[in-house]
Amino acid sequence: MKCKITGEKITPFMSFGKMPLANGFLKKEEFEKEFFFEMEVGFSEKLSLFQLNDFPSPEKMFNKEYPFYSGSSSYMKSHFKDYADWIKKNYLSTKSNLVEIGSNDGTFLKNFVGTDINYLGFEPSENVAKKAIKNNVNTKNIFFNKDSIEDLKNFKSNTNVICAANVICHIPNLKDLISSIEILLSKKGVFIFEEPYMGSMFSKVSYDQIYDEHIFMFSITSIKKIFQLYNFDLIDVIPQVTHGGSMRYVVGRKKEHQISINVVNGLKEEQEKKLDKVESCIKFKDDCEKSKQKTIQSLKEFKSMKKNIAGYAATSKSTTILNYCNIDSTLIDFICDTTEGKIGKYSPGMHIPIKPISHFKDQLPDIAYLFAWNHKDEIFSKESDFKKNGGRWFSHVAL
Ligand code: SAM
Ligand code: TMP
Repeated sequence: MKCKITGEKITPFMSFGKMPLANGFLKKEEFEKEFFFEMEVGFSEKLSLFQLNDFPSPEKMFNKEYPFYSGSSSYMKSHFKDYADWIKKNYLSTKSNLVEIGSNDGTFLKNFVGTDINYLGFEPSENVAKKAIKNNVNTKNIFFNKDSIEDLKNFKSNTNVICAANVICHIPNLKDLISSIEILLSKKGVFIFEEPYMGSMFSKVSYDQIYDEHIFMFSITSIKKIFQLYNFDLIDVIPQVTHGGSMRYVVGRKKEHQISINVVNGLKEEQEKKLDKVESCIKFKDDCEKSKQKTIQSLKEFKSMKKNIAGYAATSKSTTILNYCNIDSTLIDFICDTTEGKIGKYSPGMHIPIKPISHFKDQLPDIAYLFAWNHKDEIFSKESDFKKNGGRWFSHVAL
């Protein structure tokens, strides 16, 4: 295995086994030709960068049937409003230019519709981009890269903010990404992005953050080291509670900005926790194996007590849990979800049927594996009757 940035040789420290596409929900007739890849992970000590070895092509993952809509969580809608307000307050002025990478259904950008900010979203998945366009959110249905920004004359060297959330870790060619950012940003412009945080994944043993789309799992140290290679400074970091623990990073051209004390403290804390070293990955591997055994044992115990088990929310993360722990429909009867494009299909790899949320109330299980544990507050309040009626929530992470 080679580091996707430096090309240095890395020895994978762990394999999660054969994995299908995390969002590859499928019909029965598609079982035969289902795609699988070996999901191995490695760590570049030079860049302190956690990364997948092999991964499917971006076109295979982000296409006209990408089943993830940012707006499916009301919490995320309010998070994106706060994110937009924070950017407006700190980094934008009248008639500023703003670009979003991975704008999905326009949930974030809709906060700029009708303002005097010249904004534009890049979104390759056709179904979600169409939804944004239908809601009058300026969107280009294309991958963000050097070719696709070619005709953006008014934005070149003139973009005040480039922003993103939960997408930079999806982009294998970070060199092309950073060169494109370099072309667009104004002298004092900033690149702001939020991504799942490796430190949170390690402390929660939330290994389900690792799946095909998450080619990298970033930390403060790795982001500083990567951007340093291309003459950018990491100027601020702000932890976020979203998606089970994320980090907001602010990056700007070298020596153009003051570096926040948050960066200094964050780097120090990561050093103390050895997050910059492969040692932390070895411990994580051990924790994952223990978590897997505990999950399998618990589910088998529930079954031996004749309990019905359902999955709640057919998340991308659930694909890693189900396939790594080899959990199929003999253990989990069904998974319920709100997404139209998933309902009536089967879960990737393990082929558990996906049912509408109404099915959860109709077929009340004894145990519900909360796959969307990162949305637990929102779900617990919607489903308060489940516990009242004797139901029990379950997860491999602390709820
Ligand atoms: N930003 C949204 C959010 O946080 O809810 C969407 C996140 S979703 C996990 C990732 C999105 O990025 C998908 O809609 C995908 O199609 C898009 N994407 C993937 N690669 C991209 C690229 N190279 N350029 C722009 N968008 C990309
Ligand atoms: P993700 O973890 O891949 O982002 O997917 C979240 C999934 O959870 C998505 O398919 C929608 C589903 N979901 C529900 O079914 N009910 C809910 O209340 C929430 C917040 C999400």
